[in-house]
Amino acid sequence: MKTLLFKSDIERGGLWLDAFAEQAPDLKVSTFPYEGDPEDVDYALVWAPPRGDLKRYPNLKAIFSVGAGIDHLKSDPELPDLPVVRMVEPGLTAGMTEYVVWAVLHHHRFMLDYAQQQRDAHWEEINQVSAARRRVGILGLGHLGQDAAEKLAIFGFQLSGWSRSAKSVPGVTCHHGAEGLKDFLAETEILVALLPLTPETDGILNAETFGRLPKGAALINVGRGGLQNEEDLLAALDSGRLSGATLDVFRDEPLPSDSPFYSHPRVVMTPHIASMTIPETAVTEVLRQIRRYEAGEPLEHTVDFKRGY
Ligand code: NAP
Ligand code: GLV
Repeated sequence: MKTLLFKSDIERGGLWLDAFAEQAPDLKVSTFPYEGDPEDVDYALVWAPPRGDLKRYPNLKAIFSVGAGIDHLKSDPELPDLPVVRMVEPGLTAGMTEYVVWAVLHHHRFMLDYAQQQRDAHWEEINQVSAARRRVGILGLGHLGQDAAEKLAIFGFQLSGWSRSAKSVPGVTCHHGAEGLKDFLAETEILVALLPLTPETDGILNAETFGRLPKGAALINVGRGGLQNEEDLLAALDSGRLSGATLDVFRDEPLPSDSPFYSHPRVVMTPHIASMTIPETAVTEVLRQIRRYEAGEPLEHTVDFKRGY
């Protein structure tokens, strides 16, 4: 019998354990803190494990991240040199696409302006722009960025995307690398950030980037807070260079209660909930990967630590 060590948030932990019990009654799932024999642990499925903990298990074969991002593992200087699998599962992807579609439509249909009108008891129509004339750009054309692009295409938006390597995505004008960024930004009115946080992407949403967007563009950051320079972002919102922002992620989380983002009239914000891993579908995916690995096949969606994601 294999043993999987599991750590996630306490509230939703029970849903995961139920899903494992239903889908793999033969798998022993142990929760943190692990009190059994460290030699027995075969796999770990974790979110933000205590630093240094994962090196305690000499027979650990692979580490599964509960989330798509793996910054919570990269920050462990003692992380054992084992395959790390990012979370790619349909529930997480669908949740992110719902959020991105909602946020794009919100900016596209001037909902920040109408919310202001409502606060001011003011009645005024704003000319509608058709989706076919609205340019939406996605920073990060990975699993999440591509699914969001596919669903946004249904509305008829003009779509472009930016990635590290060259890509071809139906219906999306693709740019890549540092040289592709300027052209990408120049053609983007609603910018969706869906990048992982790496040394290359840290602070990429800064004054220079905002200055390359058409004046009055909107930002949606659902990647990581570290992507944004928050002083530059506030300045761009205050000057009107950006017409608004939907922010799900922040450099400091939870966002301190005195942050100006809470009350900024041009900001819609949420507490890092753009998408959540869904236990039922995620367990199916983790079990699929474990079965593959046990059968001698390679793991999928593994992290390349040299690239940083
Ligand atoms: P992914 O499949 O690994 O895709 C990452 C994308 O970013 C790829 O297209 C990659 O380019 C691109 N990229 C990375 N570094 C780059 C660079 N230096 N320059 C240009 N492009 C770069 O990841 P994913 O599953 O789509 O997830 C993306 C991120 O979303 C996660 O890392 C996480 O931070 C965030 N996230 C947030 C939430 C939330 O609730 N807010 C939920 C889930 C995920 P290539 O295609 O060339 O590799
Ligand atoms: C959430 O932020 C994730 O990385 O899945």
